[in-house]
Amino acid sequence: MDDIQAIKHKISTTEDDNFIQKRRKTMTEADKFLEHENELNKIQKIYKDLIPKVPESNEKCTITFQDGKKVDLPILLGTMGPPMIDIRNLYSKSGFFTFDPGFSNTGSCVSQITYIDGEKGELLYRGYKIQEVAEHCDFLECCYLLLYGELPSFEDKKKFEESVKDQMIVHEKLISFYKGFQSGAHPMAILVGVIGALSSFMYDGLDIEDPVQRELSAIKLVAKMPMIAAISFRTAMGLPIIYPRRDLTFTENFLYMMFADPMDKDWQVDELLADVLDKILILHADHEQNASTATVRIAGSSLANPFACIAAGIASLWGPMHGGANEAVLNMLDEIKVKENIPNTINLIKDKKFRLMGFGHRVYKNFDPRAGIMRTLCYRVLNHLGTDNDPFLELSVELEKYALEDKYFLDRKLYPNVDYYSGIVLKAIGIPNNMFTVIFALARSIGWITQWREMISEKSIKIGRPRQLFVGHKERNFIHIKDRKDNFKEVTSSSKNSKGKKGFTIYNP
Ligand code: ACO
Repeated sequence: MDDIQAIKHKISTTEDDNFIQKRRKTMTEADKFLEHENELNKIQKIYKDLIPKVPESNEKCTITFQDGKKVDLPILLGTMGPPMIDIRNLYSKSGFFTFDPGFSNTGSCVSQITYIDGEKGELLYRGYKIQEVAEHCDFLECCYLLLYGELPSFEDKKKFEESVKDQMIVHEKLISFYKGFQSGAHPMAILVGVIGALSSFMYDGLDIEDPVQRELSAIKLVAKMPMIAAISFRTAMGLPIIYPRRDLTFTENFLYMMFADPMDKDWQVDELLADVLDKILILHADHEQNASTATVRIAGSSLANPFACIAAGIASLWGPMHGGANEAVLNMLDEIKVKENIPNTINLIKDKKFRLMGFGHRVYKNFDPRAGIMRTLCYRVLNHLGTDNDPFLELSVELEKYALEDKYFLDRKLYPNVDYYSGIVLKAIGIPNNMFTVIFALARSIGWITQWREMISEKSIKIGRPRQLFVGHKERNFIHIKDRKDNFKEVTSSSKNSKGKKGFTIYNP
């Protein structure tokens, strides 16, 4: 038995018997992928070491109810972070559920990937500080770290880059999907649709119980995102599609596919801008259980196709309270226009007319470490381009200063988050505003798929299914249609204009 076979055999015999049989059914592409012994080593490690387990509990707390009934609940200690009360058996022991809209106080999973200390303003990827990862790694190295739990050796890094490059081109048929979108469609709308469509290309033979298939899905997603994102932009602009090149890095390829001029054979990627964008991707790569990642996990908990789950995550990211904030920051600065309008804007924010976009965070209550790095990148880009006196930068620095001296923001611990400066950097690079959140999605795809894979690797997956505090009608008698009264008379009477109109009416499709 050769080494590869031996490892395959080892995985199959040490784990669930069904696992290898299921895998064999669908191994054609996986076999190609597994040609490198190294891939198998990684998969074996993931299958054994990177599956998080709920820790044993040695402590408990007691809840005392008003009727004197007492219920003991275990306390769980992670390696870092606040302890958690394990309420999994609360209902069976007490008849009570807990109420926590927005999951502000609720842990939904065990994880080993990313850790945030919101009080200290600290972010760690697999234990490494974001500042160090951003300074010393490139994006693919960071992807490797998130996926495999360790920083790659030089050789591992090269092999991983090759695996990603092998998968960068998308199926030609996927490109036809872009023709169906309305011209001027928001690139995020296109991205949600196209990534969802990717599931139709990777459905047959995709067995998510097979770690090899999960691995391949992760690489395919990360590898294809730059081309998928770039086509969203180029087709909306009416520009021809550009294909990736093996001699360019991951991020250079994205910029090349976005901006290359087919008529200019000497077109070159600006190395500094590529480096800055690469850092931006690292800063957005993962952020533990945020709204989009939680969405991916909940969608995945029903064992749905991973690409469909990522499409759900992209939908969640799009909103201005989450990843859409980078675009919203620039729209806000556009509306403020000049420094003189800042005091009035701040007053409107304090009156709750709207929010200061790019400020505040559910977890960071001191500062967002990514925001500091982003601000440095901003100056680096503007300096490189000779546009240090960018009016948006001046306005945003002034607005930040103003807000950070205001009691409203200090009392609520509202500080700039990663999105506050990212829009300015991206705009300076030449990325159009409506592509900012697409770049975020491109970067976060590694986080989503790593988190999805971590969840699916667990021995037993609990479907995500929260409870509700019901405040609607109690059970009541059914009313037959002839006895019903018009409950919304006021509202319906306003639509009387359409009454009596002759001929046909066509609504915008
Ligand atoms: N501007 C003004 N007030 C704010 C802001 C803001 N950006 N953020 C929070 N507040 C206020 C709220 O009105 C609330 O005030 P109150 O106590 O008087 O009612 C208080 O601060 C707490 O706000 P919550 O909404 O409860 O805080 P939460 O942790 O749920 O929200 C969020 C976090 C969504 C990021 C919020 O700060 C926000 O909307 N920020 C602006 C949008 C943004 O930048 N999003 C990007 C986040 S980072 C990311 O996703 C990559």
